[in-house]
Amino acid sequence: MGADFRPNGTHDWHSATYVSEWIEGDATRDVDRRPMLRRLAGLIPATHARPIRVLDVGGGYGAVSAEVLERWPAAHVTLHDYSQAMVSVAAERLGRYGTRVTYRLADMNERGWADRLGGPFDAVVSALAIHNVAGPELVERVYHDIFGVLRPGGALLNMDLLFPASDGLAELYRRDPTRHYNWDVRVTPADVDSHLRWLRRAGFSEVDCVWKDLELGLLWASRAA
Ligand SMILES: C[S@@+](CC[C@H](N)C(=O)[O-])C[C@H]1O[C@@H](n2cnc3c(N)ncnc32)[C@H](O)[C@@H]1O
Repeated sequence: MGADFRPNGTHDWHSATYVSEWIEGDATRDVDRRPMLRRLAGLIPATHARPIRVLDVGGGYGAVSAEVLERWPAAHVTLHDYSQAMVSVAAERLGRYGTRVTYRLADMNERGWADRLGGPFDAVVSALAIHNVAGPELVERVYHDIFGVLRPGGALLNMDLLFPASDGLAELYRRDPTRHYNWDVRVTPADVDSHLRWLRRAGFSEVDCVWKDLELGLLWASRAA
């Protein structure tokens, strides 16, 4: 499954040129993506006054972090990624938030990556990042690692690709005229049921797919208080 698991071909996240082209392309999707990221940020279990520490896994150029920082004025965000090229752009874009943001480089494919992020955290957010790891068994391990850096009572909010569970459903997704994202729809073990099972096995007590639009969805997983 490993290499085939990459849903959109091979990304070169370490290339400054590729990263800058990807960010440029992403900006054209802003009108669709921003409301989703705003919605994700709004579901973080927090109150305005209480300072919280949030980890953005695979945070890229900072689109999710920016929504969290705007929504929660007392939040500190640790933006994680393994691409120096992405983190450099993020540091520029999020410069106005000053010491409210910390940047950490770590490869999710490597054991112990989450121990280098300076946890624990009250919440972990992520968008379109975790599917990049090298295979479904690693997704489960990444969930386990995230559980380990979450405070009791904290939650993971992961917006990511959730593939159809059968060829028939994949065909249905392709036929939907409202589908405007050009994902390469695959039938893989990374369907909603698999994600929820992996999250439970990682230790999360309350798991759900909060919303889903074809192959894009938001998973919620909380750690018991
Ligand atoms: C599609 S981008 C999403 C960026 C950001 N979350 C957003 O929604 O704009 C995927 C990000 O995951 C990062 N990434 C991919 N594989 C990774 C890995 N093994 N460890 C850490 N980060 C990774 C990439 O560098 C990239 O910044």
